[in-house]
Amino acid sequence: MDQRILAERLSGLPLADIRYFESLGSTNDTAAVWALQGAADVSLVIADQQTKGRGRAGRQWFTYPGSALAFSLVLRPSSQEYQGRAGLIPRFTGLGALAVSQALQTQFGLQAEIKWPNDVLVRDQKLCGVLAEAHWVGDRLAVVILGIGINVAAQAIPPKESLHFPATSLETELGFEVDRITILRAVLGEITRWRAGLMDEEFLLSWEANLAYQGDWVQLVSPAPVEGRDSVLVAGQIIGLAPDGALRLRTRSGEELAFRSGEISRPQENFQLRLVDSSPK
Ligand code: BTN
Repeated sequence: MDQRILAERLSGLPLADIRYFESLGSTNDTAAVWALQGAADVSLVIADQQTKGRGRAGRQWFTYPGSALAFSLVLRPSSQEYQGRAGLIPRFTGLGALAVSQALQTQFGLQAEIKWPNDVLVRDQKLCGVLAEAHWVGDRLAVVILGIGINVAAQAIPPKESLHFPATSLETELGFEVDRITILRAVLGEITRWRAGLMDEEFLLSWEANLAYQGDWVQLVSPAPVEGRDSVLVAGQIIGLAPDGALRLRTRSGEELAFRSGEISRPQENFQLRLVDSSPK
């Protein structure tokens, strides 16, 4: 992978500009700096290696040389389409996750699913993470940096002790080598397609249709403080997504709640359904 090959192989996609790095801290950080300097809508930062890759909730994201895809898009939401709409940022996270899921489905026939809010799973193991970060100018959303990390080769899978969830890679699942730029092109194509209708019902329905654990019982730890608590733990059945991208759960008592942030996990064998706090967000 290099700048010239990327430009050649990604030609025809509506990218404003591409910056390739052999190694950098985080593509999201580099893209944010570039955005400040005036990068146009749909500018791409991509790196072979990240030394300070970031995940959600302050976690580290590992990107070892030659084994993964790590890239960020500078997106500038246009005012008439998006400004002031509830759930805009979550929709960008959904955009990344849906684009990767669909690219994996169409390119390789893999049953990729979205573990709300920002992971892509194959056979219940994480293959990709999405990190959408918003930059505001006053109360106007100026830029969204959409960062995507995909484990391509088996070497991309981080050491077990640093995992929060079982992980896999594309090549592990497929059993053969895949070309990173082919995947990148497919994902960027899906992002382009879905971004055009990001606020449409069709996007929400596709995002929802690709959710992992639909109808299953899960437990959700939501970090937002509620009445003095640091986090809430709720058990519920996944019933879908609200228009603002919140996860809708039905609790054992039949109550329907929606959560804008949090981490879901499936019940362990010894799991007993507990409703510690069901305050909605
Ligand atoms: C997560 O699973 O918590 C999200 C991981 C997002 C990783 C990608 S890799 C490209 C971009 N640059 C970063 O520093 N993070 C994102």
